Amino acid sequence: MNLKKWNVYVTRQILDPAIPLISKECNVFLNDNESQSARNDLLKGVRNKDAILCTLKDTIDARVIEAAGPSLKVISTYSTGVDHVDLEEATKKGICVTTTGGVLTEATADLTLALILATSRQITRGHNLVTRKRWKKGWDPHLLLGSDIYGKVIGILGLGRIGSAVARRAKGFDMDIIYHNRSGRNIQIDEQLGAKYVTMDELAEHSDFLSIHCSLNDESFHLIDKSIFRQMKNTAFLINTARGSIINEKHLIQALMKHSIAGAGLDVFEREPLPSTSPLLKMKNVVLLPHIGSATFLTRTKMAEISAINLLNVLNGKRPIYIANPQVLISRLNKSKVK
Ligand code: DGY
Repeated sequence: MNLKKWNVYVTRQILDPAIPLISKECNVFLNDNESQSARNDLLKGVRNKDAILCTLKDTIDARVIEAAGPSLKVISTYSTGVDHVDLEEATKKGICVTTTGGVLTEATADLTLALILATSRQITRGHNLVTRKRWKKGWDPHLLLGSDIYGKVIGILGLGRIGSAVARRAKGFDMDIIYHNRSGRNIQIDEQLGAKYVTMDELAEHSDFLSIHCSLNDESFHLIDKSIFRQMKNTAFLINTARGSIINEKHLIQALMKHSIAGAGLDVFEREPLPSTSPLLKMKNVVLLPHIGSATFLTRTKMAEISAINLLNVLNGKRPIYIANPQVLISRLNKSKVK
């Protein structure tokens, strides 16, 4: 006899302990196909479920929410970003959308620094030269001359959790820090790190490394476009570990081809995986990574644990650890006295 109360659809296999934790209290319906949950499978799979555990690869739009039906109480995403979830629709329907919040902050900030170093010091070109057996002359005064990091200006777009963690690291490299935030100055960080709040135009103009850390939404979509590239120094690098669509990739490719900026370090793209026809693949002034900002064993394991706890907490009438639409929780609190 099946005594478990809740039915949960999991869109793909993720790290332990997510599924073992959820399975203790719920019937788990796992799409164990390693590839992305196909649209039809997703629409079918979510039907009559109490909860969905998804990843950033699954588009949880109004149709999916509708397909799940009135039993759906929580969408727990195994990510910090929620741009793949229709937050407005979920909120309208009183469904909690939970995230992995700050758990990936340090790992993503580390990878941002790795991209700053890799682009400015030509790390991957050096590696390729050696491993492809093209390093013929030994030490050479002219070989792979890069740019300094020390004393340069890092411009941070979005001084939230990850942006601040990048700023702390940049301080250790003796960089000057400027930033721009939609919400204005962050006085605490200004004081702690000597970071200076600037306008978007000043950020573009003065940065030697322009690093993106805002979330993707209607306002930030294609925020970095040709008007920004026109203002950037031709010695500057663009770094993106946030979301691909914050940059107009077509404009970026043109800027790189014309050398109106020096290079780019990208962990995220408008389309993932990056299409094999992308001109970025042939460029020498880029370092490209396959969306691995949070990809350390420990971080991804913690993300798994948090996404399971979030989901179970909402089902059991408790507070999740991180929630993207707290207003839903407040109304659930009022209705059912969530502890
Ligand atoms: C996130 O969680 O939003 C990252 O981009 C993926 O780990």
